[in-house]
Amino acid sequence: MILTTTFLCFCLASAFNYFRTRRQRLLIKNLKGPITWPLMGSIQKLLFLNPKNFFKQSKDYLTKFGLFSRCWIFHRLFIPVADLELTRQLLENETSLETGCELMKDWLKDGILMCQQDKWQHRHGLISRLFINENMERLTDLCRQEAEALLPKLSERADEEVFDIREIISPSILNLIVRVTCGVSPSDNYAKALNDLTELYRKRFLSLQSANRFNYWLSCPFMRRRQNKLIKILNQEHKDLISRHRQEQLKKVNGLEGNPSEPLPQIWHESLLRILLESQDPQLTDEEICAELNTCNYFGYMLCSAALCFALVSIARNPTVQQGSQEELQKCKIDHKKWQLEKLSYLEAVLQETLRLYPPQVILQRQLKEDFPYTHSVVGDAVLPHGAEIYVNLHEMQRIENRYPTPNNFQPDRFLNNSTELLSFGMGPRSCPAKKFTFNLLKAFLAPLVTNFELLPYGNELRLSLRLVLGSSNGFQLALKERK
Ligand code: HEM
Repeated sequence: MILTTTFLCFCLASAFNYFRTRRQRLLIKNLKGPITWPLMGSIQKLLFLNPKNFFKQSKDYLTKFGLFSRCWIFHRLFIPVADLELTRQLLENETSLETGCELMKDWLKDGILMCQQDKWQHRHGLISRLFINENMERLTDLCRQEAEALLPKLSERADEEVFDIREIISPSILNLIVRVTCGVSPSDNYAKALNDLTELYRKRFLSLQSANRFNYWLSCPFMRRRQNKLIKILNQEHKDLISRHRQEQLKKVNGLEGNPSEPLPQIWHESLLRILLESQDPQLTDEEICAELNTCNYFGYMLCSAALCFALVSIARNPTVQQGSQEELQKCKIDHKKWQLEKLSYLEAVLQETLRLYPPQVILQRQLKEDFPYTHSVVGDAVLPHGAEIYVNLHEMQRIENRYPTPNNFQPDRFLNNSTELLSFGMGPRSCPAKKFTFNLLKAFLAPLVTNFELLPYGNELRLSLRLVLGSSNGFQLALKERK
């Protein structure tokens, strides 16, 4: 009896699902994909996916089903893509802008990544103001200061012993990014909460329990409680800063004294917080300001530390690249602490090549809110139905042989004549507004480091793993030797 009822329910649910997704299935008939079981879809493809086997599995998947395919998981339609022809049409399109980044919703709330399309353009404009030329100089000086402060810590490790460079790099990047966004150095409590929260999200990524919000809600109550507590700590400090800024503004405009509070430190650069507050946008609530600070902290801290660690390990393991970078740095030195960063074209190529092979943000996500017509030389012209979730795999896309010859080799020279395209910052209207700043940051850190230390290729090789952003499951091992 129980078996018969279960079977009947299963058949009914499958029939319902079949009719509900009929239109979508008709529209994607031209796409290949794995076997789809009634109701479950191709769940077998997701069950055994984990951060360590992600790259092998996705390579096998793309070899089998092509660079542009379809994969049903229950009623959800996934479109995995590693194809430039479709990616360009999609990302450069003005209407299909929704990212659908569900995992981070509790933390990044209605920030730029997840806000409605009508708010997005204004937010993008506000964040881009952080990186206008005048402020960029000051932000770059901040990067130089932070890099200089890192040198004594690295000197302590310059004994040719193997260590994980991420342990030293990431606190420094965290400190820098929070100074850029909030205008103050993070308190110990804040830095710990930000670090712990990113670790928590790393664990959640690709885990079955947190595949959707409902599952997570039910199956991980302790993790969820801890996550909310960490978010609260960060936002409490943001709100405290917002109120101190408002008091200072009041004092400036009316000469009014608010509640006495600790004055804000004098800073030379415009912080993101000040830009958002001074935009005088009545529609920008304190919650939304917190969401933007969180979004930029997330991007800046996680992606820049990963990029810098990958660059250091790649330089250590390619002696001719290290020598070329060092020779260029000697030529472009202004004084013992400053380099003309814009003249470091070889180092820039080294960074581009690092970001090509190791794009910190591996996947770009789009959720279609309306049908998306496209043209394609292999699968033909057709329409992607609304509701489809598109996952663009930058890692695979930047290792395709006919676009990047000898794709797995580290060859910065391929970027020297401007004919190679770097996709790691996305493309189109939603591409990264901090691209130029990121290159300045990475160069400002690498210049003193490569000048003062020889990077030695000791320790284990990188083992790529995907935990929210690209990382290495055995860390970023190398050794340092002080140069005479
Ligand atoms: C190595 C460093 C970085 C990489 C590889 C990177 C990569 C990216 C990519 C691929 C996107 C596009 C996402 C999409 O199309 O869905 C993006 C967007 C964004 N990035 Fe970056 N990023 C980096 C550093 C930063 C930094 C330092 C900040 C700010 C402090 C930042 C702020 C943002 C913001 C706010 C967006 C959202 C733009 C929008 O949706 O309109 N990024 N980034």
